[in-house]
Amino acid sequence: MTAVHPSKFTRELCNLAPVIPVIIINRVEDAVPLAEALVAGGLPVLEVTLRTPVALDAIKAMSKVQGGVVGAGTVLSAADVAAAKSAGAEFAVSPGCTDALIDACEAAELPLLPGVSSAGEAMRALERGYDMLKFFPAEQAGGAPFLKALSSPLPQISFCPTGGVSPSNAIDYLKLPNVLCVGGSWVLGGDAVEKGDWAAIEELARLASRLKA
Ligand code: 3PG
Repeated sequence: MTAVHPSKFTRELCNLAPVIPVIIINRVEDAVPLAEALVAGGLPVLEVTLRTPVALDAIKAMSKVQGGVVGAGTVLSAADVAAAKSAGAEFAVSPGCTDALIDACEAAELPLLPGVSSAGEAMRALERGYDMLKFFPAEQAGGAPFLKALSSPLPQISFCPTGGVSPSNAIDYLKLPNVLCVGGSWVLGGDAVEKGDWAAIEELARLASRLKA
């Protein structure tokens, strides 16, 4: 494991912009223009979920985009960790948190943003030193009021809520003292990727990047 705790790195990433785009990509040829549009719009941290056959190739391609920091999402197993690392992912995101996954990420020196959805899960992550966590699925698990309630007993933990976050509720999260950024797929603009409408995505990213003014 690295001398510096992985949460220090993920905390820095979560401070770079108010939104981390959650990307489900179907065509590898979309990877570079999509990443370029998001980065140009002011969202440098990109999470590519390992949910499609081209995800790893997309990570490889996006990693070459200037100014971007590309990570793998939906990382569930040691095999995912190894694949993400060799594709060039700079960080990993998981929907939940297990000791096996933490061990695999630490062995591979791949900083993990682990997902939690309860106080007990947050405490277990904290026992391993993880104080920068994803809150997932944010809206379904209690939304901004839940995180506000956690900020009193667990002030040392910061969150990136993801799942059901949109332009209409993002600010409710971002104004909380224990939220550094949010994650969401809305910045992909529905079918804009399919249409190759990179200008629309860049504009959505720009609006998202200004959310925490
Ligand atoms: C996911 O893992 O799919 C993310 O939570 C994205 O959720 P969203 O599509 O509701 O933004």
